[in-house]
This record gives sequence, structure tokens and C-alpha cells, in this order.
Amino acid sequence: MPSRREFHAQLLGSVITFSLIEWLWTRDLFAADAPASIGKWFAELVAMTQDLRGQKLTDVQFQAQMENLYKRVDLKELCALIRLDEIEKKTKLPDTGAANIGFDLSKVEGLPAQLGFGKQIFGCRKGRSIVPHGHVNMCTGFIVLKGQWHGRHYDRVETHNDHYIIRPTIDRTFGPGDLSTISDHKDNVHWFEATSDVGFIFNVHVIGYDKTIQETSGRLYLDPQGEKLANGLIKAPKMTSADCHKKYG
Ligand SMILES: [Fe+2]
Repeated sequence: MPSRREFHAQLLGSVITFSLIEWLWTRDLFAADAPASIGKWFAELVAMTQDLRGQKLTDVQFQAQMENLYKRVDLKELCALIRLDEIEKKTKLPDTGAANIGFDLSKVEGLPAQLGFGKQIFGCRKGRSIVPHGHVNMCTGFIVLKGQWHGRHYDRVETHNDHYIIRPTIDRTFGPGDLSTISDHKDNVHWFEATSDVGFIFNVHVIGYDKTIQETSGRLYLDPQGEKLANGLIKAPKMTSADCHKKYG
């Protein structure tokens, strides 16, 4: 048995240790090992995905929430979590189109095994593109992690047998931290060309959120440089993936 004096010394020691840990925690000095805030950020993404799938949010409402969340991302923590440096070293960026790289969230504390969304990193070398395409029954969003990009979005206004009618909505330069999103009802088509030596983009996508949409999900490849119509609209011929990558990859 410790003496009363030894007992007090031990107790004081553990109190000091606990206070020290708490102080370090509040100062975020453990961030490198346990980035709690990026975990919370992903937990918010999981929650809003559940709300979209549970029809508590429309796709356009989800899109607005996703953009608000994306704006609050700690880019440094996100890049550290997905190990962007390692991805960049390991990945040979393709001569055409974009590399598609997975990353692991299973060790992030507080996240469920079933996230409800898909995730990936896109990587392009200079002049190469995530080619123009639209989506069906999918909400998705980009955050630029590295490099400069020329990003374009279009509303898909009409769908015909061999073409779409689209309306340009976004056409600008994107740098690290910049973001954009897609749903079936807003900014449905996107096209991103890397304009710096290398570029990487973070992507989350929620497929099959609307049970009333019968069309199968998948990329809708198209040529946005089609015939210009009245009111700023464009007649964009449908393309195969191969043709789209040949022209824009
Ligand atoms: Fe896409």
C-alpha cells in the first residue's frame, strides 16, 4: 500500500498528465495523428447524404449544403488524411483523361462502415481533362486539392436520342480549395482541364438518390462545343467515352 504522501504524489502526477493531454488536445497538437475536425467534416457529409437518400433534402438543397460544407474544409487536413503526397508519388498520370485513385476512410473515428457515398481522387497532367460528361441520378462535388484547372459546368436542359440541349452555367479558373457540385437539376454537366503541370481533385458522389428516376446511372458523354442555338443554348451531340476522350481527354 502506498503511504498517504505517495498516494497524493501519484494523484497529483495523474492530474498533471491529464491536464497536459487536455491542453495539447485543445491546442490541436495531436492533429497530425488524429485530425478530429476532418473526421467531423466527413461525419457531416455522411449525415447530409442520409438526408438526401431519406428525401429530407431535395437534390438542389443537398447541393447547397454540400457547397457550404466544402467551403469549410480544412484543405491541409484533407490532403494529409488522404495522403495526397503519396498518391502523387505513386500515380502515373495518364496520357489521356484522368487517373482515378481511391483512398481509405475506414480508420477515421466516428464514421460508419457504410458512408452512403462513393469517393475518389482525380489526377490529370497539364492539358489533360476530366472529359465533358453529365450524370443521371447522381449528386456529386469536386474540391480542387492541387494545381490550376479550367472548369466548366452546364445545365442539361433537354435529352434527345442523339443529343442534349445544354446551357453554360460556370466557366472559370479553379485553384486549390475551389469547389463545384452537380445534381440532376443544377449544373449537371462538368468538364475540368488541368492547366498546371499536375492537378488533383477530391470527389464525393451519391448515386441512386432518387428512386423515381428510371434511367440508369452512368456518365453521359457529350460534346459541349456543338451547334450554338438561341438564348445561349447549345446542341451537344452524344458521344462515346472513346470519342470524348479522343477529343477532350
Ligand atoms: Fe462527373
